[in-house]
Amino acid sequence: SDACGLKKGDRVIVMLPRIPEWWSITVGCMRTGIIYIPATTQLTANDIFYRLQASKAKCIITNDTLAPVVDSVVSKCQFLKIRLMVSEGSRDGWLDFKELLKAAHSNHNPVKTKSQEAMTIYFTSGTTGYPKMVEHSHSSFGIGMTSTGRFWLDLNPSDILWGLSDPGWVKFAFSCFFSPWIQGACIFTHSMLQFEATTVLNCLSRFPITSFCGTPTVYRMLAQHDITSYKFKSLKHCLSGGEPLNPEVMEKWKSKTGMDIYEGYAQTETVLICSVCKGMKIKPGAMGKASPPYDVQVIDENANILPPGKEGDIAIRIKPTRPFCLFSHYVDDPEKTAASERGDFYITGDRGIVDEDGYFWFIGRADDVILSSGYRIGPFEVENALMEHPAIAEAAVVSSPDPIRGEVVKAFVILSPDFASHDPEKLTKELQEHVKKMTAPYKYPRKLRIKVFIGKLEIRTRIYHSCL
Ligand SMILES: *[C@@H]1O[C@H](CO)[C@@H](O)[C@H](O)[C@H]1NC(C)=O
Repeated sequence: SDACGLKKGDRVIVMLPRIPEWWSITVGCMRTGIIYIPATTQLTANDIFYRLQASKAKCIITNDTLAPVVDSVVSKCQFLKIRLMVSEGSRDGWLDFKELLKAAHSNHNPVKTKSQEAMTIYFTSGTTGYPKMVEHSHSSFGIGMTSTGRFWLDLNPSDILWGLSDPGWVKFAFSCFFSPWIQGACIFTHSMLQFEATTVLNCLSRFPITSFCGTPTVYRMLAQHDITSYKFKSLKHCLSGGEPLNPEVMEKWKSKTGMDIYEGYAQTETVLICSVCKGMKIKPGAMGKASPPYDVQVIDENANILPPGKEGDIAIRIKPTRPFCLFSHYVDDPEKTAASERGDFYITGDRGIVDEDGYFWFIGRADDVILSSGYRIGPFEVENALMEHPAIAEAAVVSSPDPIRGEVVKAFVILSPDFASHDPEKLTKELQEHVKKMTAPYKYPRKLRIKVFIGKLEIRTRIYHSCL
């Protein structure tokens, strides 16, 4: 940090792929009190410009491929003073990480930071407006991910965890950084840029990976392959997070591998909110029970706690004491911060119910719930019904405006390869009938778009919801 001219409290955008330097740089930031802001390498020049200006970051760290993209906006960025490149080559106006590292002292005294001081900021996109900046303190991830590592990931020092995520997303902090670090476990990582099912399957059989964490999409894509021909010799714990897990995917995985999938539910603003841990009964379709130290409840619009079985807003108690592992606030946005609270609770923005056993069931994002002819329809349930059909590899359900019903259910589906040549019109009718049978008839997708499976799919969460 001295060589760069950075000091405690300065903000740095770290936009790097999964390379070892990502970890050394962020640990370096923690030790020097510099606030690091992870960014995905998929950002465009406009996205980078927005993030540099909004965060007032003094420095950006990236690689040689992305450096020219940064340079295309640098003249408009009055806060950006330092550009640092992790690469083999050099570039005008950029500091060279490898050179700086060579020249650095081997001794370093970390600065003193308070537990509630800012450690990192994540940009997170909502369904509307610009991305918000979510600030987390040193204790938030540093201590708050203890229960994630110990109970949900079930890690000990002999484990090797492979979490499939990009450093720009908070899921990476869960499954590739803090939780395994706290537990003294080893992590496995792979530099693949795009998800490739055969690469993943080969790694799981070649290397002694004991624990694997992916999104439901990952499991779906893997289940498309002939998994039974692979032997996962060390794998013993499979985890899913990032979006709700469909019961159908779980069944498929179990029938092919003999292993269950343990679901975890979290947000950029939180650490783990709910999870299914080893030893707990698995209820397919449920996100598990509240994860310590959170007190999670389903509440109504007046912040009253609802009884089991009643749909409401999934919320975390923040009074009298805000949990140390909840985000501190939205940076420079007290209004958004205030809007995320209701009575004694932080509102996740997700709708759900809790059952008699304390298991939480996801219904949909509050913003995503479809209001059709006075009916409230949760997209997740319709997606699950579609997924049960053999023709469907992927399904995303959204609201679509309608002059008569206000909104109607619209589904985007990707077909399994075997169904690629089926008549789309006939298939649409069949899928609609199928959903009517699987759930209440009023929930069937009146609009349906079919795409043929293309073999490769980027690892992403429910981005398609905001693509409409
Ligand atoms: C820099 O990162 C991008 C995004 O992950 C990647 O496509 C590119 O190959 C990297 N460049 C180098 C030189 O490693």
